[in-house]
Amino acid sequence: MTTSAPTAPDRLWGGGYGEATHPLVQKLNASVDFDKRLAYDDVVGSIAHATMLRDQSLLSEADYAAIVGGLRSIWRDIHNGQFEWTQAREDVHMNIEASLRDRIGDPAGRLHTARSRNDQVAVDERLWLRRNLAEITRHIADLAAAFGQVARVHASWPMPGYTHLQRAQPVTVGHLALAHAEAQLRDGARVLDCLRRMDASPLGSGALAGTTLAIDRDKTAKLLGFSTVTRNSLDAVSDRDHVVEAMAAAALGALHLSRIGEELCLFASAEFGFVRLPDAFTTGSSLMPQKKNPDMAELLRGKSGRVIGDLVALLVVLKGLPLAYNKDLQEDKEPLFDAMQTWSDCLQVTADMVRAAQWQKHTLLAALDKGFLLATDLVDELVRAGVPFRRAHEQVAALVAELVAANSTFAQLGALALATKLGVPVAVVAAAIDVRQALRRRDLVGAPHPARVASQANAMAARAQRLAAAAQVWLRPTPAEQILTGG
Ligand code: ARG
Repeated sequence: MTTSAPTAPDRLWGGGYGEATHPLVQKLNASVDFDKRLAYDDVVGSIAHATMLRDQSLLSEADYAAIVGGLRSIWRDIHNGQFEWTQAREDVHMNIEASLRDRIGDPAGRLHTARSRNDQVAVDERLWLRRNLAEITRHIADLAAAFGQVARVHASWPMPGYTHLQRAQPVTVGHLALAHAEAQLRDGARVLDCLRRMDASPLGSGALAGTTLAIDRDKTAKLLGFSTVTRNSLDAVSDRDHVVEAMAAAALGALHLSRIGEELCLFASAEFGFVRLPDAFTTGSSLMPQKKNPDMAELLRGKSGRVIGDLVALLVVLKGLPLAYNKDLQEDKEPLFDAMQTWSDCLQVTADMVRAAQWQKHTLLAALDKGFLLATDLVDELVRAGVPFRRAHEQVAALVAELVAANSTFAQLGALALATKLGVPVAVVAAAIDVRQALRRRDLVGAPHPARVASQANAMAARAQRLAAAAQVWLRPTPAEQILTGG
C-alpha cells in the first residue's frame, strides 16, 4: 500500500485543486484498504456502463474496445494479486479508473461519462451483496440439511427437553435438530426476501439527479442481471436499506448460531455429557493437560456479538443523514464486510460440527430417569380418567414432592404402586411412565413423535435443497460478467 501524497494526476477530481490535501484528510478519506473488496463488481459495473455508452453512441467502438481490454487486464492483475492499490487514489473506483488511464491513456477519460461515484458505489454494493447473500443462503441450506441428517439418524433417540434449563419433558435428539433447522430455513427465506427487494439497478442516478446525456438505464440493468431500475435518483444514491436488511438478517442468523453454540457447550460438558465434539473442533489448554475446550461452539456465541455490533454501527451511521449522498455512507462497508464474512464462516463451521457431533445415547437415557419428565403425562392420564386438570396437577405435584423427599423416581416406585396412589389402572400408568411410549403418544404436527420426526427429517432435505436452488438463481453469470471473461 503506497501512502505518499497524491500527485495531481491521481486525483480524478483534481482539476480545480492546486495544493495537496492534508495527510490525515487523505488517510481518513481513503477507503481503498477495505472497499477494494468491491473490485470485481466495480469492473463488471464499468463494463456494463461502457457497453451501454457504446450502444448509445456516447463511446466509439475503438474507445470501447480499449476500455474493455484495459478493464480485463486490470481484473486479471487484481485477481492475481498483482495490482498496486494506492491510498493516494482514495477508493476502489478511482484506483481502477486511474489504472485504466495508466494502461490505455485518453479513452479511459470517457468511461465515467454520465456516471458518478455515487451511483457507481451503489451498484457495486448491490452486486457484491447479491453474490454474497446468495452464497450465504447456500451455506444456510447446507446447515439446515446437516440438522436434517442428524434428525434422520436420531429421530427416535430420547433426550430431556428443557424449559428454564430445568428438565421438563422428553423430546428426541432429532426433534431438537429439526428445531434448529427451522430457524435456519427462516433465515434463508429472510435473505431471499432481501435479495428480491434489492433487485433494481441504481446506475444512471448520477451524483443525485441523473444526467442530461441520452443513456439507457434499462440496458445497464439488464447487463448486470437486475430485473428493473430504481425509481428515484435521490433515493437510489442514498438508500442503504438493503445493507441494513442484510446485516439485520446476519445479526439474527448469528444469534441463532450463538444459541446452537451455547447448547453444544453445555451438552459437551462433563456435567451433561450428551454429546462429544470431535477434536477437530476443540483445543487444549496450555496449562491443564486434561482440557478439551469447545472453542468453535464458544466462538459461535462470541462472534454473534460483533455481528450485532456491525448492524448497530450502520444504523447509527445512517440515522439522521439528509438526502442524498453523504460521505458518511462510506462507513457502511467495513461493518457489512465483517458481518457477512463472519456469518458465512460461522455457518460453514457449524454445519461441519453438527455433522460430526457424536450424541451419547446412554447418557441421554440416564438423564431421562431423573427429573420426573413424565409427570405431565401422568396428569394427562388422570384427565383421561375424568379428573379435572387442576386437581390432577395438584395430585401429581404432591406425589412428586413425596418421591423427591424419599430420593425416589416414578420407575423406582413402580407402575403398580403409582396406579394405586393415583387411582388409575396399572396398564395406563405403565404406558405413561415409559419414555418411548410417551413419545409415540404425542401424535400431532410438530411434536416429537419419532415417526413424525423421521418424516420431517426427510422433508428437511428437500426443503434445504429448494432453498439452495432459489439462491443459485442469483449466482447466474450476468451478460456483463460474460463480457469480462470474454464469453
Ligand atoms: N468511496 C465512496 C463511498 O464508498 C465512493 C463514493 C464517493 N462519492 C463522492 N462523491 N465522494 O461512499
